Amino acid sequence: MNLHRTTLLAVAAAMSMFTASAAHAQGQPPIKVGLMLPYTGTYAALGDAIENGFKLYVAEQGGKLGGRAIEYVKVDDESDPPKATDNVNKLIKRDNVDVIVGTVHSGVAMAMAKAAKDSGTLLIVPNAGAGAVTGPMCAKTTFRSSFSNWQPGYAMGAAMAKKGIKTAVTITWKYAAGDESVGGFKEAFEKGGGKVLKDLTVPFPNVEFQALLTEIAAIKPDAVYTFFAGGGAVKFVKDYAAAGLKDKIPLYGAGFLTDGTLEAQGAAAEGLMTALHYADGLNTPRDNAFRLAYAKTYKLQPDVYAMQGYDAAQMLGIGLAAAKGDVKNKAAIAAALEKATIDSPRGKFRLSPSHNPVQDLYLRQVVGNENKVIGIASKGLADPGRGCKM
Ligand code: PHB
Repeated sequence: MNLHRTTLLAVAAAMSMFTASAAHAQGQPPIKVGLMLPYTGTYAALGDAIENGFKLYVAEQGGKLGGRAIEYVKVDDESDPPKATDNVNKLIKRDNVDVIVGTVHSGVAMAMAKAAKDSGTLLIVPNAGAGAVTGPMCAKTTFRSSFSNWQPGYAMGAAMAKKGIKTAVTITWKYAAGDESVGGFKEAFEKGGGKVLKDLTVPFPNVEFQALLTEIAAIKPDAVYTFFAGGGAVKFVKDYAAAGLKDKIPLYGAGFLTDGTLEAQGAAAEGLMTALHYADGLNTPRDNAFRLAYAKTYKLQPDVYAMQGYDAAQMLGIGLAAAKGDVKNKAAIAAALEKATIDSPRGKFRLSPSHNPVQDLYLRQVVGNENKVIGIASKGLADPGRGCKM
């Protein structure tokens, strides 16, 4: 055989191998991300913000994570737990998604966590704080970019006790998020010497608060602690002020009470103090860049939900980069996330052993259209992750 020809063949073979490995991730089909979020109902705006945030991060990476293009399949979960198992199975079984991102509502998220764990599907929870998801139902393949319901409740309870508040009434929706938020609040408030006089609830997503507001006025606690979010938070804050309680019995809450809602709440929200893992006016280069990019892209200010969606995409990106785009390599994805420091707009954070953010909980106060940061209620707060065995 002609030596010259042999050399050329060898060079061509080497080149094609090189191109094949360089194009390894590029040549593969897109990664299928199943977005299971509320697009209707009291949490609809929250679902939109999460999707916006997620897509913003992906766009900033040129539309790719770990070298792979991203494709989306969407399901509206309606924040309806009885439909959750069917809805998540549409993504897992019908659409064969590589990763699920969702959701907002804790009851829906628990059904998702079970289906994802049973099928070994990657799940990133961009809001729902259900303790079970990073507690008894925790999994190597389940991660949260947001918070546990316990965290803002605990931080606010500690801050209220520190302020010298002695008695409180709690009011919330009767479901996991409300129960656990109040549970965290009580734990810290009572540890700090406070006493909860009464726990009031309405079924989710009801917004008929009148009878309970009358009861609060009669009990006359030093303060009220509440968990409401989305459309329900708008109505509650307005009703609280309209009932004449705002100047008599100070209202505090997990920060969802006033996040993404201030325009609709108007003067009824002015001065309210809440605790959350995000705030306006952090004024860090990382947050400023995020806010500017979000505002430019969507002509809207980001809120906590947008930030959590953005970080869910960042977390997927970290995992996929470590796995060189191989979304099936879940061990590599988990190992990378377990040791990562995530450069979030909220401030840098790491994941706890049960995969929940360990993070600062800011104390915020409503000034005009902002939840202004006024301090840190709990620094580096880790959810206890009770019941998680991995
Ligand atoms: C929840 O159901 O876990 C939940 C919903 C809305 C929020 C926060 C938590 O804003």
